[in-house]
Amino acid sequence: MNIPLLGVNIDHIATLRNARGVGYPCPIKGALICEQAGASGITLHLREDRRHIQDEDVYELIGQLTTRMNLEMAVTDEMLNIALKVRPAWVCLVPEKRQELTTEGGLDIANLSNIQAFIHSLQQADIKVSLFIDPDPHQIDAAIALGADAIELHTGAYAQATLQNNQKLVDKELDRIQKAVAMAQKKSSLLINAGHGLTRDNVAAIAQIDGIHELNIGHALISDAIFMGLDNAVKAMKMAFVQDKTTNH
Ligand code: PXP
Repeated sequence: MNIPLLGVNIDHIATLRNARGVGYPCPIKGALICEQAGASGITLHLREDRRHIQDEDVYELIGQLTTRMNLEMAVTDEMLNIALKVRPAWVCLVPEKRQELTTEGGLDIANLSNIQAFIHSLQQADIKVSLFIDPDPHQIDAAIALGADAIELHTGAYAQATLQNNQKLVDKELDRIQKAVAMAQKKSSLLINAGHGLTRDNVAAIAQIDGIHELNIGHALISDAIFMGLDNAVKAMKMAFVQDKTTNH
């Protein structure tokens, strides 16, 4: 069985810090603990409204990471300029709506006219580009045509179905993701990542899909850290990847 890597999204360490407008908890410190505990990379989403990660966090973190930074961002000129200054190993392009609580759906690549030039500018600067898309054959075809380096499949609908204990829907969403991975593998050499809404309780079925390179996990892992510590939360999440599905509750 191929076990995916774990990328940790540290946004919600910053959410907690910003709730009081103080300097703690420090997302940089958190990122370094995650690396030490076995994360293969650190993801952070610089949103247009700066609700969690701030510009200074990005600039500070890039000098300290020993793994790799995956900078999530919207397809805007402002973000492109920042990425070209920071030069993370990876950029993950995501759709962004001001009112949303979190990234609610994947990119609709076909309707983003400037995306080809955007990807090209990043790749010219030696930044690899991942596209956050729904597990939809049209989006996968579009990602391949655009020459992306990776796709990240949105697991939010699957995760939501697990929270609702709707087994029929869980099976349907899992099947969509499995088919999307198989299709991307067959048609391309894209790296295939996945993430959104994954928890220790629902991650195993996704982690055990052959062909997934990395899972990006934030909210549930940072929540676990409140009760077990960040180091243990990273280790526990990695253990949950390989748990037998039938005992994963
Ligand atoms: N991947 C992407 C592209 C995301 O936008 C997010 C949420 O910021 C995640 C993964 C992590 O999702 P969660 O916080 O629900 O684990």
